[in-house]
Amino acid sequence: MCGIIGVCSVDRNVAPMISLGLRRLEYRGYDSVGVAIIDERNVQVWKAKGDVDSFLSRFKIDSIAGKTGLGHTRWATHGPPSDVNAHPHMDCRGKIAVVHNGVLRNFVTLRSILELRGHSIVSDTDTELIAHLIEDETQFSSSFFEAFARAVSRLEGSYAIAVVNEEEPHRIYFARMKSPLVIGVGGGFNAVASDIPAIVEYTRRIIVLNDGELGWITPGEVRVFRLTDEGLVEVDREELLSRIFFIEWSVEAASKHGYPYFMMKEIVEQPDSVRSTYEGNVSDPVLKAIASLLATSDNIIVTGAGTSYHAGLVFTYYLANIAGRHSIPLIASEYKILERAVSKRDVVVAISQSGETFDTLEAVRAFKGKGARVVGVTNVVGSALSREADITVYMRAGPEIGVAATKTFTSQIMLLTLISIYTAREAGLLGDSEVEAEIASLAEAPDIVRESIERSIEVINDRELGEHRSAYILGRGLGAHIAKEAALKIKEIAYVHAESYPAGESKHGPIALIDKEFPVYFAATRDSPEITGNIMEMAARGARVVVVKPEDYKLPVGVKEAKIVEMPPTKKDIKLDPYALTPYFQILAYKEAVARGYNPDKPRNLAKTVTVE
Ligand code: AGP
Repeated sequence: MCGIIGVCSVDRNVAPMISLGLRRLEYRGYDSVGVAIIDERNVQVWKAKGDVDSFLSRFKIDSIAGKTGLGHTRWATHGPPSDVNAHPHMDCRGKIAVVHNGVLRNFVTLRSILELRGHSIVSDTDTELIAHLIEDETQFSSSFFEAFARAVSRLEGSYAIAVVNEEEPHRIYFARMKSPLVIGVGGGFNAVASDIPAIVEYTRRIIVLNDGELGWITPGEVRVFRLTDEGLVEVDREELLSRIFFIEWSVEAASKHGYPYFMMKEIVEQPDSVRSTYEGNVSDPVLKAIASLLATSDNIIVTGAGTSYHAGLVFTYYLANIAGRHSIPLIASEYKILERAVSKRDVVVAISQSGETFDTLEAVRAFKGKGARVVGVTNVVGSALSREADITVYMRAGPEIGVAATKTFTSQIMLLTLISIYTAREAGLLGDSEVEAEIASLAEAPDIVRESIERSIEVINDRELGEHRSAYILGRGLGAHIAKEAALKIKEIAYVHAESYPAGESKHGPIALIDKEFPVYFAATRDSPEITGNIMEMAARGARVVVVKPEDYKLPVGVKEAKIVEMPPTKKDIKLDPYALTPYFQILAYKEAVARGYNPDKPRNLAKTVTVE
């Protein structure tokens, strides 16, 4: 996830507005920063690896003259953080500058076509291709806007883009598909930005662009068109005026989309982040290379810490049940229990959102030392894990600011499920048409996550756990792994001792703790109907039982025994159950923490990334 901003003004230099906007957008990405300014007839670009502070102190942007400009903060998805991969990107002649947030699914094809047509691509990014595509299309177009629109129609995937060209120094072109983009309607200027915080200090009059819309702004004009099968259709003025709304938020609140904490913002972002993981990886040849490794290795070790370890447990479930491959889940800090047994015929899948967790890196280095190949699964391009691993795949979930992992968990599950499906093909268990069907079914996940979030916010009380200081979170089969993640969330931000157990195991001792009204939650996934007996056992001993399950998963449990919480249906597809259940426990933990007066973004004793032993 990156942050983009563009401003064009009739009478003032825009650099200060752009640099302030970059500061407000930095939570969307901070690998590299860049600015393009047009002063009269040429486009100047400054860009560098590093965060906004380092960029602004190095280039002193605010003093640069120019009434039209673009800015970009990057969260790397294609190509590591570097000066050359920083946005804005330009065409061959240096006359067109582009900033982009999103992932182009057809970047490999576009790059081949453009290179065949003589364009020299200098970066590893998908974004640079947009500048060259526009340049290429100008040869066949009667206007720059026509070339821009033709280029946009050839993009596949997600994008929010802003473009300037030196032939039209007072105009910024924009387009939006599946990545957020808003227009700020100012006095004597107009702006486009990924997010409201970037411009809310200069204007509170906002138009939210819709997918498939594109157009341009000048200091006094906003023109929006829809890309339809019949061609470009302009949005009429009345509709555009009716879409202007006024922001009431404070600036600080706006960077959290109006939520009081990043954690809730990131929970609510999950439909987009899960979609970004899916879109950005589903056609990536790297997944197939990883699948081939997993299908042919002797042993597969799946390791990580905390939430990443829990995603690894879900991965071992899908590897076994989709790909027929046995794997060993291993808490990273416990790597020594396996070290002597690892050989060069084994593969280690190391999962780490930050890519910097000490325990996970130690495990990776130890197993590499024994000759094992390492697959890195991370959210950060250029992270230590991506440098240690033999092959790395990225979650593309965008930066996660809250200490508690939320959107990165569901993104990890999405990515690891895709890998499991491709491994099944490499292992000869699934044919191409079956793989296509399995892959297509995952496209439902973003809508299921959205529905689960909406239902959970609705049904969860602020003090679900009351004054209890303990709780059980139980599950069976896949549900046992969801339960582990649920318990971690409740522990780490609400400070309630929530313990997870395989539900079947709870009768072998843990049930002794149950007394009247003891909270027992069941994460009921559709692979384990025998969980019914465990629910009854807990209810019979007076526990306060809550069963969280997909609506289309019928369990013979009555309201006498438990409160049944119906999450969205998952079309009888076990691959989709995690997206239906996970948000419930994330939101339960969040509401409990806030109701108890804690800050869920900064839980006590914790750090976002644990880089110590
Ligand atoms: C999860 O909410 C915690 N923030 C923590 O357990 C985290 O998952 C763990 O430290 C691993 O971090 P990583 O994914 O960046 O390696």
